[in-house]
Order: sequence, then structure tokens, then C-alpha cells
Amino acid sequence: MERIHVGKSQDLRDGESKMVRAGKKEILVVKQGDRFYAIDGWCSHMGASLEQGQVRDGTIRCRVHGAVFDLDTGKVLQNLQAKDMRVYPVKVEGEEVFVEYSPL
Ligand code: FES
Repeated sequence: MERIHVGKSQDLRDGESKMVRAGKKEILVVKQGDRFYAIDGWCSHMGASLEQGQVRDGTIRCRVHGAVFDLDTGKVLQNLQAKDMRVYPVKVEGEEVFVEYSPL
């Protein structure tokens, strides 16, 4: 398991997100309330970036065709043509935020 440093916890405001590169992957780190989530950065429907996605109640909505994903599980909740997304563990150590991922 590898880990990538995202930044400081206060760098993101509630509802904001940040795309980070993790090996060959791009992972979107989302802050909602006091929680951080990490999900594949590109929509499983037709590959749009989720960077501009709408974050709400523990979900993210892709702005292109409206697929909605659960940020906790990656499960697709709306737009059944999309597939479930991969999510990643987020660790907060002091003020520093890290995402863990498998490079394979
Ligand atoms: S590309 Fe995201 S819903 Fe279609």
C-alpha cells in the first residue's frame, strides 16, 4: 500500500475537492464537514473529471450526465449506466491528510 500526501486539512473547505496523482491514478479528495473522502477522479460513465462534481450529503454528482456516487462506498446511486467507483482510505495525522492506494 502506498500513500500520497494531499496537504493540510484546513487547505480544503467544506464541500471542496482536490485532484491528486497517485501513480497512474488520479484520485479526487473531497472534504465534507469534518470528513475526508477519496474516490476515483474520473467518472465511470464516460470518463469526465469529477473535479467539478457537486458534493452533497456524502455523495458526488458528475456534472456531465448526472451520475451520483456514494463517497463512502463508491456505489453508483443514480445513472445505472455508470459503474461503481473505487474509493480509498484517507488518514488524517495532525493537520496532514494522506490517501492510501494500491499501485497495482
Ligand atoms: S460522464 Fe459522468 S455521468 Fe456521464
